Amino acid sequence: MNHNDHVRLLQNGVPRPGGVWADLGAGEGAFTLALAELIGPVGTIYAVDRDGRARQSLEKTMRRLFPQITLHTIQADFTRPLSLPPLDGVVMANSLHFVANKGPVLQQVKGYLRKGDGRLENGRLLIVEYNSDQGNHWVPYPFSYQSWVKLAQQNGFSHTEQLATYPSRFLHEIYAAASW
Ligand SMILES: C[S@@+](CC[C@H](N)C(=O)[O-])C[C@H]1O[C@@H](n2cnc3c(N)ncnc32)[C@H](O)[C@@H]1O
Repeated sequence: MNHNDHVRLLQNGVPRPGGVWADLGAGEGAFTLALAELIGPVGTIYAVDRDGRARQSLEKTMRRLFPQITLHTIQADFTRPLSLPPLDGVVMANSLHFVANKGPVLQQVKGYLRKGDGRLENGRLLIVEYNSDQGNHWVPYPFSYQSWVKLAQQNGFSHTEQLATYPSRFLHEIYAAASW
């Protein structure tokens, strides 16, 4: 997958340029960079990862490719409460599958999202995941799109839609979904 594929997976989930977003489990920033392209230079991104080396790499790449965006990197565990402003959106790409008990994390994420009237005013959670419920050593607790629809609803996200899919040799397929 390249940068354009990352953009394509997220693009229908980003309703407008600008806004304040977070990428939880950003790693080296594959999807942070896609988000930067989609929200443009007036946007702000909080990139959270517990891995300090990945964080440095992300900062460097962002400075090179999207120098105008406001990027805050936070080295932290996203399963613990984070200090974040009200968010227009959160991206969790290939990171929630490391969490066995996802409910408490989803409740926390819901609490970070801006509350408004109607679909476009509410903050949204964008998920990118393998479309599988079978874990392995590298992807311990994945969840298929069908499982995500239920999990999101159980945790107070009343609407979920699939945004895009991408074929993957590993665990068959990757999907992106938006929940709000
Ligand atoms: C497979 S990588 C995905 C990185 C990026 N989102 C992507 O899709 O390319 C998973 C990332 O999530 C981070 N991660 C996993 N659990 C985490 C946690 N509880 N708190 C913070 N970061 C976490 C890891 O350090 C790693 O950088």
